[in-house]
Amino acid sequence: MKLKDKVCVVTGAGAGIGRAIALEMAREGGRVVVADIVELAAAQTVHQIREAGGEAIAVATDVADPDSVIRLAAHTQQRFGDADVLVNNAAIQISKLVEDTTPEEWQRQMSVNVGGVFLCSKYFLPQLRRTRGAIVNLSSVNGYFVEPMCAGYCATKGAIIAFTKAMAIDHGWEGIRVNCICPGYIDAGLAEAYFQAQPDPAAARAAAGKLHALGRVGRPEEVARAAVFLAGPDASFITGSALVVDGGFGSGLPPAR
Ligand SMILES: NC(=O)c1ccc[n+]([C@@H]2O[C@H](COP(=O)([O-])OP(=O)(O)OC[C@H]3O[C@@H](n4cnc5c(N)ncnc54)[C@H](O)[C@@H]3O)[C@@H](O)[C@H]2O)c1
Repeated sequence: MKLKDKVCVVTGAGAGIGRAIALEMAREGGRVVVADIVELAAAQTVHQIREAGGEAIAVATDVADPDSVIRLAAHTQQRFGDADVLVNNAAIQISKLVEDTTPEEWQRQMSVNVGGVFLCSKYFLPQLRRTRGAIVNLSSVNGYFVEPMCAGYCATKGAIIAFTKAMAIDHGWEGIRVNCICPGYIDAGLAEAYFQAQPDPAAARAAAGKLHALGRVGRPEEVARAAVFLAGPDASFITGSALVVDGGFGSGLPPAR
């Protein structure tokens, strides 16, 4: 077990990739704090973990709200002790052109996607310092390769890569490792919302699969394994990295024959 008795906090763990990470970390022996803005969703993840014999608690949290994150850190400490692992996964996506995006939508997306990473990192740092712990942030291939109709989202994912590298430099001497994951399209909420917004969701999904060299979209579990790797002892000399988990996302061109 890679995370035996490690206290693992996963934000946005009520669904999709975050839920898969929470389940995988519990399977690896972690004691998991499932943080999500949707309390019922967090409780459902906890239920799944306990059914599988793991240990977890749910904490209703808005990562964009400093008081809520302070409560999450305090609750984690009271129930399980200091956090060893923080996974900053919670995010939203506004799929609009810039001129159609309201300042409020822009602000909320920045506050959740980037502000949430900042606030959770800030308020868990005292605990991570004591445990010489690890932070894993969820960026995206959109931090490198942009796509239409999501300029604000791409900006937040690019910011997370820079933030990850900068924090790694600031805290490496304390034994804290900070890395991020850049997934391609994954069979989870944000990609699904995009497919559903297209005139033909099934066609959009198939087209997205073809953007990857492996010819398909990824599964949440495939990102979760990368998160366990970066959080655990196998990545003991890895910090400031952006691990691409994208099935070869890129050209979208068919292979030459
Ligand atoms: N799905 C993809 O194709 C894909 C690709 C690349 C990167 N990502 C990244 O992976 C992460 C998870 O994506 P997903 O597709 O699983 O999303 P999802 O929508 O399935 O799940 C996101 C979870 O975050 C929660 N959440 C939203 N706002 C929150 C807030 N303010 N505070 C706490 N929780 C909040 C939601 O309730 C939900 O449970 C995101 O960071 C996303 O940018 C996803």
